[in-house]
Amino acid sequence: MQGAHPEALDLPLPYPVHCRAGARHSVGEIARLAAPSHRVAVISDHTVARLHANAIAAQFPTESTRVFTIPPGEQEKTRTRWAELTDALLEWGAGRDTTVIAVGGGVIGDLAGFVASTYMRGLPVIQVPTTLLAMVDASVGGKTAVDTPFGKNLVGAFHNPSAVVIDPEMLVTLPDDILRSGLAEMIKHGVIADAPYFDAVLRFAHAIRAHGAAAPDFVATITTLIVGSVRIKADVVAEDTREGGLRQILNFGHTIAHAVERVLNFELLHGDAVAMGMVAEARIAESIGLAREGLAVAIADAVERAGLPSRMPVGVSLDDIISATHLDKKARLGAARYSLPRGIGEMEAAEGTWAVAVTDEAVRAALTSP
Ligand code: GLY
Repeated sequence: MQGAHPEALDLPLPYPVHCRAGARHSVGEIARLAAPSHRVAVISDHTVARLHANAIAAQFPTESTRVFTIPPGEQEKTRTRWAELTDALLEWGAGRDTTVIAVGGGVIGDLAGFVASTYMRGLPVIQVPTTLLAMVDASVGGKTAVDTPFGKNLVGAFHNPSAVVIDPEMLVTLPDDILRSGLAEMIKHGVIADAPYFDAVLRFAHAIRAHGAAAPDFVATITTLIVGSVRIKADVVAEDTREGGLRQILNFGHTIAHAVERVLNFELLHGDAVAMGMVAEARIAESIGLAREGLAVAIADAVERAGLPSRMPVGVSLDDIISATHLDKKARLGAARYSLPRGIGEMEAAEGTWAVAVTDEAVRAALTSP
């Protein structure tokens, strides 16, 4: 999908993905090419609006552009906020000739994407991720959703963006813990597909842990790594957009992560949950004889090197976690299934299903063994 977008990455996706320092200044130009429209609805949160979204809105004509904001935080990714934003668009008079620009982290990308996917049966959306996690994961691939009290992302739709605009310079204003949280999905990409990429992330993770965005050569190095992650993800979603099989490998670590997030009322950073989820699921993979011995320790070392947690928070009940896994989207016939690694860079194909049924007893045994 380069054609009209010569500066986009060369990826097997039906929409352009731009990733370069300063790309935020070209959102207007990219949107006019990718999704020309009568009106522009910029959706963001209060914090990101001040930092970036208002400036991005200023790249469009004032009279036909409006910024809609919600408070920041995972707890805002709800059906209530979806309804409020939809009503605000209706009140404004937005028609089908409106483009939504989602400017924010994964919460805004998923929520604004879901608003766009359902509004009048579908508006174009341009994803402008502002966190590392959203740059390497949520903004690419067309998943949109809201959370419910029953679990994460349980109500949503597949709705490809018309374009993705990633500007790694935006990361320099991120708090260190939010920046680190994005490293979890990058480590995941290495585990599921690419051992040299895993090593490259680890080499830089230590510098980020020590210096945050003030690490030497931060923007140049993180840009290369983001492009690496986006390529891995693009190759997977190009083959299986609607998660019938292969795409489930992107879910490595997430069966446990989503369960922990739900049990802790979404108060944990998603990257922290994914970090501990990857270690737990690698232990499961080893304990059922799928993964090579030592994999869980290698992943635990990696997440710790990035300053991420490798263990569940003390006091979280394993029973609650196991029962929350039953509502995971990969579950079938009431039984949880997991996307599991065999080693760094290699996932279990499970005869083309890419998800392995694991009994609750086996999960309990794996997670309680010393
Ligand atoms: N975040 C996993 C996926 O996009 O499939």
